[in-house]
Amino acid sequence: MFDSGVGGLTVLHECLVSLPTEDFLYLGDDLRFPYGALSQEQLTQNVRTITSYLLERGTKLIVIACNSAASAGLAAAREIAEPRGVEVVAVIEPEAEVAAAVTDSGRVGVLATPATVRSGSYLRALAAQHRPLTVTEVEAPDLAAVIQRGFPFDRNVVEMVRSYCEPLKRAEVDTVILGCTHYPLVAPMLQRSLGRDVRLVTGGHAIAAMCQRVLAERDLTATSKREGDYSFLCTGDPEAFTELGTRFLQMPLGEVEQVVLP
Ligand code: DGL
Repeated sequence: MFDSGVGGLTVLHECLVSLPTEDFLYLGDDLRFPYGALSQEQLTQNVRTITSYLLERGTKLIVIACNSAASAGLAAAREIAEPRGVEVVAVIEPEAEVAAAVTDSGRVGVLATPATVRSGSYLRALAAQHRPLTVTEVEAPDLAAVIQRGFPFDRNVVEMVRSYCEPLKRAEVDTVILGCTHYPLVAPMLQRSLGRDVRLVTGGHAIAAMCQRVLAERDLTATSKREGDYSFLCTGDPEAFTELGTRFLQMPLGEVEQVVLP
């Protein structure tokens, strides 16, 4: 599983709960954070590099736990992994499915990084659902960086969150996709600003269910009854990753290995 930093830990968390006997290897490409500011070409290149690297490490399934990366590089990752018999699952599609299923009014909001919004991936994924939806997308260029920097969140962050929520409130959406894996970490702030009746949709549950299904279909589910291992790789400073990641995962990370990617 990979992300540009610690955001994907919100997805990993759900997978650790739903798939407790599987082993997980998580890579945070924090050296090249933020992905949300990269071009589609740069993102696709990063996805190729990381996918190849994770395949070398012997993974049986790859999870792109980063919306910006998935919005640009899912097809590229599949091109590399599928010939080697490995499936790639990614955020975006699963959240679109959930949002279309739970919205009453059909007015859906998407809050995401500039890269994700500009890719049009959510618009396509929501248009592919079998009901007409009115979609309001908001770019949040600074939110992931604030989260990645860690706590404490101050009044400026609250103001920032409020300003991103404003267009969603004006559009009277009843469902908002948190289209960046960092955002569930500020879910209470978002919920307060949007109002308690607005449903927040995150990728975690849906991805965990998808991993479960794909592993079962391919007969790859771990057969052991023991608890699986999980370990972490990062491209930036391992100490900083450990510090922040532990708080975000709310579980010990153990030794974080720093890797050098081409
Ligand atoms: N977690 C990443 C995502 O889901 C975004 C953060 C970044 O800009 O790198 O898009």
